[in-house]
Amino acid sequence: MASLERMRSVSSEIAEKTRIITDYLASKGLEATSHDVDGLADFPIPPSDVEPYMARLDLISATRELYLLSLGPKKMLQETVWSCIDMAALHAVWAFKVPQAVPLQGSISFDDLTAKVVEMNKAAIGVAMLRRILRLTMTNHIFTEPTKNQVAHTRASRLLLQDASAESQVGLICDNIWPAVVSFVSALKKWPASEEPNHAPFNVAYDTELSFFDFLSQKENQWLSDRYNSSVKGYGEAAMSGLDQVVAGYPWGELGDKTVVDMGGNQGDVAMAIARAHPRLKFIVQDKAGMRTPESIGTVPPELADRVKLTAHDMLEPQPVVADVYFFRIVFHCFSDKYCVKILQALVPALGKGSRVIINDGAMPEKGTVGRVEERYLRMGDLFVATTMNSREREVGEWTDLFARADGRYQVTRVWKPQTSALYFIEAEWTGEKEESGRRGIHPRL
Ligand SMILES: C[S@@+](CC[C@H](N)C(=O)[O-])C[C@H]1O[C@@H](n2cnc3c(N)ncnc32)[C@H](O)[C@@H]1O
Repeated sequence: MASLERMRSVSSEIAEKTRIITDYLASKGLEATSHDVDGLADFPIPPSDVEPYMARLDLISATRELYLLSLGPKKMLQETVWSCIDMAALHAVWAFKVPQAVPLQGSISFDDLTAKVVEMNKAAIGVAMLRRILRLTMTNHIFTEPTKNQVAHTRASRLLLQDASAESQVGLICDNIWPAVVSFVSALKKWPASEEPNHAPFNVAYDTELSFFDFLSQKENQWLSDRYNSSVKGYGEAAMSGLDQVVAGYPWGELGDKTVVDMGGNQGDVAMAIARAHPRLKFIVQDKAGMRTPESIGTVPPELADRVKLTAHDMLEPQPVVADVYFFRIVFHCFSDKYCVKILQALVPALGKGSRVIINDGAMPEKGTVGRVEERYLRMGDLFVATTMNSREREVGEWTDLFARADGRYQVTRVWKPQTSALYFIEAEWTGEKEESGRRGIHPRL
């Protein structure tokens, strides 16, 4: 009767974790999340309140386990493959800009909504089809039908209207990444064991020789890099890998007034969050030239402008900026080992004795060492980067190998994962002397 016992124990765990969360919220006079259009979109529990924070993650795992047990393996397989239809419906909602046509307060009839959608998109879609699409997304709390044939917003559909990074993430995945997902197996067959960034499912889908980031950096694809950048911003708000985790997870204060080069720092959101918390630190944020626009450079607020600079540099080229610390957050998972080694070697000309490299990135967990939901997100991320960039997440021990392969003068000093974070910190120190400027260039592998 182990199966009955398991259902009972998971259900008790759910009750216990729910109690911890609701007691915490009640003690602070806070609400829980809700699908109501005016409800909370995210739980107001900071990672520093470890017990309720971890209870929520455990609750997600446990409810998922009970849900899958309740389905049973046969139905679970069906649910998994049929979820692609959820994706198709959400894609249609996004593509036809339905959230913009539904009033934030009150509701609209399917007929009037269809007329607005047709007018907005200058594209024909019938009321019957729109109703079918929305009645499916409503089963995922994306829109609701308060009375028969009337459509109203929920909190999730309102996010698609008002939260730029949520909207970008849905658009990026449904509209731009989905064709690559469908090409996953074709790419595996076409390029088995390749380490090249342009041998990804993305390349099959888009029939391009350009790697994902080179594709994004093309002038004509500026709209796509804007969407990607906005989507990355959303990642910074995510539980377990958000900005608060990177700010709290490393002893930045110990660095005093040092200069940190944030490599692959995108639009500087991470650097700005750390700079706000540590007023003596300075940041030079580097990213590919094609990912920079005058508008994005202008987003550094005046109070940080003298401490955070957004600049362009290709990290596969020798590092021109001599600084105390080089920081990479969720960057190495965008590259295969071969190119991670090149990136570390390209840093060498700038390094002096004691220079630090700090990496904040995922590491694949040993079975059972992290929560089930955490493991699932990490493993989805692993195959996401395989799909887009032919790269991978690494296991904890592999980080040391990567530094050793790049140059024997790197010494990994610390590897740790803050309790509430999905991402590790890996810190290495350069033990060699600064290279003569005449000998600048990528150091040969030792
Ligand atoms: C997953 S994002 C991480 C962004 C940021 N570090 C963060 O934590 O939000 C990876 C970043 O690496 C940048 N990147 C990719 N290839 C690069 C290259 N060769 N040189 C510089 N930046 C690069 C991308 O443009 C992107 O901004």
